[in-house]
This record gives sequence, C-alpha cells and structure tokens, in this order.
Amino acid sequence: MSETDLLTLQVTHIRTLQQRYEQALAECGYDSLLISSGAAPLRYGDDQAFEFQGYGPFLHWTGLTGQEHSWLLIRPGQAPVLWLYQPVDFWHANLELPEEPWHQAVELRFSEQREAPSMARTGQLAVIGDPAFLGEVPGEHNPEALRQALDETRVRKTPYEIACLARANELAVAGHAAARDTFLAGGSEFDINLAYQQATRQPEAEAPYHSIIGVNEHAGTLHYQYYDTAAPAQARSLLIDAGVRFRGYCSDITRTTPGVGEGRFAALVQGLERLQHRLCDMVAPGVDYVAIHRKTHEGIAALLSAAGLVSGLDDQALVEQGVTRAFFPHGIGHFLGVQVHDVVGERQPSPEDAPFLRLNRTLEAGMVVTIEPGLYFIPSLLEPLLDGPLGRHLDRDMIDELRGCGGIRIEDNVVVTEAGSRNLTREAGG
Ligand code: GLY
Ligand code: MN
Ligand code: MN
Repeated sequence: MSETDLLTLQVTHIRTLQQRYEQALAECGYDSLLISSGAAPLRYGDDQAFEFQGYGPFLHWTGLTGQEHSWLLIRPGQAPVLWLYQPVDFWHANLELPEEPWHQAVELRFSEQREAPSMARTGQLAVIGDPAFLGEVPGEHNPEALRQALDETRVRKTPYEIACLARANELAVAGHAAARDTFLAGGSEFDINLAYQQATRQPEAEAPYHSIIGVNEHAGTLHYQYYDTAAPAQARSLLIDAGVRFRGYCSDITRTTPGVGEGRFAALVQGLERLQHRLCDMVAPGVDYVAIHRKTHEGIAALLSAAGLVSGLDDQALVEQGVTRAFFPHGIGHFLGVQVHDVVGERQPSPEDAPFLRLNRTLEAGMVVTIEPGLYFIPSLLEPLLDGPLGRHLDRDMIDELRGCGGIRIEDNVVVTEAGSRNLTREAGG
C-alpha cells in the first residue's frame, strides 16, 4: 500500500473512531471524554523514569507513542481536540510532527503545561488514563462501564489499523531474517539483538515488548530476558520472539532455528511448523478461539508420539492427563493492536485447563490474533511428570538430549476476514 493510501485510510479510521466513541458515550451517559496519554513515572528514589509508550486509547486515536502529558478531548459532533505537550526545554527535544492529512481531522494544539487543559465544562465529562496523572481534573475518572465499552471499540480493527499491522510485520520479518543469519554465523544473543535492531531500525526501548532471544536451553524460558554477550561453544537452537511498532501498532513474531547438525530438534521444529500452519488455517469468523487452543494440544500430543518422546498413551490421554500441558504450558495466543496483548480478549475467565489463555472469544471479521504454538523442555514442568506415575511413558534420555535446545515457538499475526483469514507474517515473507 502506498504512503498516500495509508494516510488517507488514517483519516477514515479517525472518523470511524468518532462514531464508535459517540455511541459508547451515549450508551454510558456521558457528554464528553478526556483521554490522558499518561507519562513515565520516576523510579523510586531516583530521577530517572521508566520507559514510556503511552495509554492504549490515546494510541488508538493518534498512534503517537512516547508522547507524555498530552490530552485528547472527544465530543459528539465535533472534531477531537489534541493537546500535545511541547514545553520549552533545553534538556529534551520535542516531537517534530511531520505534516500529515490526519491533522485536518483533529484540532491540534500545543501545550506547555502537563496538567489537563482547562476548558468550559458542559454536561457529564469522563476522564480516562493512568490515575497517577489525572490529578484533580474535574469529571468522573475511569468509569468502568465506559472503559469497557471503549476497549471494545479496539477489537475489530479498521482497514488503517490492519495496514499498520501489516507494515509492522514487514519490518519485523526483516529483523528476524537478520537474527537467524547472525545465529547461524555464530553470534551471541547480544549480537543477535543488535542485528535485529539494525535490520528493523528500531531501538529496543521503542519495541512493543522486550525482545526474547534465547539460544540453546534459554529457548526454554518463555520470556527469557537476558542477552548473553558470549556465544555458546555449540549453537544448538535459537528462539527469537520480537516485534516492531509501526505508527503505534505492534507485530509479535516468533521463529525457532535449529543449529547445524540438530536433526532430531529440526524434525520437531518442522512438525510444529506444520501444526502451526493448520492452526492458522482454522482462523475464520464464527470459530471459537478456545477450539484452536484445544486443537493445539491434540497436535502436540501427536507430535510427541511421532517423535517417540512419549509412548503407550493415546493422544486423548496425553491431553487429558496433562502431559501436553507440561510441554506447551501457555495459551495459543491473544489479540494484537496498539498493545501487544490487546484488550478484552477474555469476556469471561478462560477454562480451567487453559489458565494462561488470554483470548477466549468467538472470532469476528476484523479481529487480529496471534497463533503461537510451542513445545518446550522446561525442567520444572517435566521433572514432576518424569518422577510421577506417567514417567514410564516418557523417554527421559531423549528429553535430556533435547533439553539443551530449550524449546520451540512459532508465532504469526493473523487477521480474521469475512472469508477466512490473512496471515500478515507469512504475507510479509516470514
Ligand atoms: N511476545 C509475547 C507473546 O508472544 O505473547
Ligand atoms: Mn504473542
Ligand atoms: Mn511473541
């Protein structure tokens, strides 16, 4: 899509949000809404702040990550008013906003004050944002019913949002290719992270989440957070889970690469990849996302048996007796948008056998989800199984051998369309 088309879509996106917000305000009995972008709190006892990305509803309208102390006013029948905090400051620079068509769809003002703008108050005002930054602003702060209704406006993405998510995928796919090449050339986790940042032209602080870069057994820690500066003597596997933000929108992609000569592990990666494709193909309107999660467990059971990791138990028993959960402990995925784990995936608690599933709704066109099956060798989950009554069904030697490869996760970003789905990650060449 051309830059011009994308920017035109953004204007339509703002009009759509105006309609959705007007409806939510009317249903909840408010006449206007003030949204705070928020700001980064200082670390305790320090003059340094945490990294800041921005409050979801503010990003939904503006895409402006990193804009602290800014405010957006929404009123029925009127253009939104956006106050961007731009102080006179010789310590920091202010954001230089390139001229873009969406500025015509909002009333843009610049403010030197951090506090909410003072405005003539008419009717019922709601104010949403991090309570730490709302101060004494008049109006009702973070009313629950309205917040829920506004979160719901983020569930079905507009064409602009889907275009941004597609671009976030294209950018991240280039980073994943560079990461894989660096791993295969003998690089360390630290080197792989640098290669990813270089290829994506994105500093890590601006990424949607801390990149997960696990070589060898580190790949078995689901959100492994360190970067070894030394490369291992033997590079057996790489798991990289990393994304990019584009105009506020996040990609969330995982790839696993076996090291040279890791035939058994490579076969498992291939098996999981085939399963992942089948799961992505299930994405369509009307499908219960929990059914995709359950299908994953059936697929993992078949993979474990085919690999000889387990024997003497059929697939159903492997699922029912919790064996597959020890190898695949997380959920199959979540909503994706201006937050990597986008909001309101769970309108009711997830089933007891899927406690970490963040999305349990029936899929609708416009939703964007991740599909991320995994198969890991995690000692704290496998030891109790090996030492228990089911232990005789597991091949301990094979598990011990594969433990050094940590685990596998393969994650794509998929749009639910009227006709079925679009896999943004594969479309981007990932
Ligand atoms: N990157 C975190 C996740 O996949 O949910
Ligand atoms: Mn994810
Ligand atoms: Mn991920």
